[in-house]
Amino acid sequence: MLLKTDILIIGSGAAGLTAALELADKFNVLIISKETLVDSSTWYAQGGIAAVLAKEDSTESHIKDTLIAGDGLCDEKAVRFCIENGKSAIDWLVSSGVNFTKNDTTKDFHLTQEGGHSHRRIIHSADATGREVSNSLAAQVLKNKKIQILENHLAVDLIVSENKCRGAYVFNKSKEKVLTISAGASILATGGASKVYLYTSNPDGASGDGFALAWRAGCILSNMEFNQFHPTCLYHPEAKSFLISEALRGEGAKLKNYKGEEFMHKYDSRKDLAPRDIVSRSIDAEMKKTGNDNVFLDISHKDSEETKKAFPTIFKKCLEFGFDITKEPIPVVPAAHYTCGGVKTDLDGKTNVQNLYAIGETSCTGLHGANRMASNSLLECVVFAKSSAEDIKSNFDTEEIKLVDWDDSKVITAGENIVIAHNWDATRRLMWDYVGVVRNDSRLNMAKENIKLIYDEVENFYKNYELTSDFIELRNLVLVARIIIESALDRKESRGLHFTSDYPELNNESIPSIISKKGLSEF
Ligand code: FAD
Ligand code: SIN
Repeated sequence: MLLKTDILIIGSGAAGLTAALELADKFNVLIISKETLVDSSTWYAQGGIAAVLAKEDSTESHIKDTLIAGDGLCDEKAVRFCIENGKSAIDWLVSSGVNFTKNDTTKDFHLTQEGGHSHRRIIHSADATGREVSNSLAAQVLKNKKIQILENHLAVDLIVSENKCRGAYVFNKSKEKVLTISAGASILATGGASKVYLYTSNPDGASGDGFALAWRAGCILSNMEFNQFHPTCLYHPEAKSFLISEALRGEGAKLKNYKGEEFMHKYDSRKDLAPRDIVSRSIDAEMKKTGNDNVFLDISHKDSEETKKAFPTIFKKCLEFGFDITKEPIPVVPAAHYTCGGVKTDLDGKTNVQNLYAIGETSCTGLHGANRMASNSLLECVVFAKSSAEDIKSNFDTEEIKLVDWDDSKVITAGENIVIAHNWDATRRLMWDYVGVVRNDSRLNMAKENIKLIYDEVENFYKNYELTSDFIELRNLVLVARIIIESALDRKESRGLHFTSDYPELNNESIPSIISKKGLSEF
């Protein structure tokens, strides 16, 4: 079956929803989302959105903090562009119905602080900012007659001819059939790939589909070795993926070891508010030193009513697991949180494939460099969704060509799912054990050997059996794991989130890594 639209947006997080709303005044827009409209990392965002909103803050200060966190690898043009557009992005969110928390006395927006920021500049909706952003933008999208939505539809591959993107093949999960969608411009807004690790703060959908689709379409990917581990996820066998926001440390919470001792002062002068790469590595070192599986985050010394008011979601969730955060420390561990690299784009979200844009966590705009500073990513979603929409409005391609339908005549039903389940677990454990917070060449080479075997098995399966949604995700996850491993092996230095004990120093030259179809070995 063939569907036609002006604009195809793949993904309905903050980036995809913003782009849709910005484009719908001029075009027919089709959003596809692999689950519901609000199933996304965006929905789970807690801390808030960084922007220069306080009188005592400045654009230059936000730029400087972002460059420091990015450890020499940010593209200063992209940093400046994003931060200079920060205030208008927040104004737009407010005008789109997002309710941010206000100060009780002044009635100005309340601003909190997070790691790496030298000022209070995080605007937030209590501790559930993402839920508020996601619900508000989704409500606007649902009202807009120019936007069509297909939930539970999963993009399988982009359709590219003569280096132009013409749309995508999309799997309808309920009918188990592949549709052909033709579009003048396509936008990848599929989020990150943190599900490639065994332990992650991300929802299940973060399987890196956009990176894999882009790579197969001929896009350049950059900086894929920089995987951010959030320092503080709840440590409890049943608490899958629950994040304890960095904003707790912004409001005075302290990291402590099993002896109840604070330890961050031993690792960085910024202590608990050092950038995330440093805090995660410090926790890792402290856990190895003491032989324990977790550390603790303690906010119990603060006023308990204030804590409950500022962090209602976290208070409630922790209580469900038996921890009263106003009275006792919370057990925490680092977990995979954010993919700093991605599909390389310019300031308008354009990739090297014509008519194909990438925005949000899927993109690598140059903003984050080797380590994303807290709360800069929702900002990036909105700013670059808007600039890509502007570019599409000026350069829309009206050429149409006849597209070839998906051909599944040569495959059969698999009948069992063991290959999928096994390789899904094997890949995520391999990445956690061999490509984690602290790396070395020996473990990375073992990871490369192992992932090659999994990759070949998965590709063989792909050639012979009908698609299922789990299998589409697995195929993407394995490819992204391979790209991360090879990118990590190529970087012979320690920079930002990529720390290797074989090359603990920083090289003089800071060069973003680049990987495309040609760059991956032994394919
Ligand atoms: P997402 O919000 O992840 O949306 C991706 C969309 O793509 C989803 O709709 C998904 O279903 C869809 N999709 C994926 N693959 C396909 C496919 N093949 N076909 C169709 N659809 C597909 N950042 C901040 O700035 N501040 C915070 O406070 C903050 N807190 C966070 C807390 C948590 C727990 C997490 C997980 C992240 C947090 N982040 C935060 C990071 C931030 O939330 C994300 O980087 C950001 O929301 C990404 O938005 P996005 O639109 O790029 O992608
Ligand atoms: C958090 O609230 O700690 C997450 C912020 C972010 O990932 O930007």
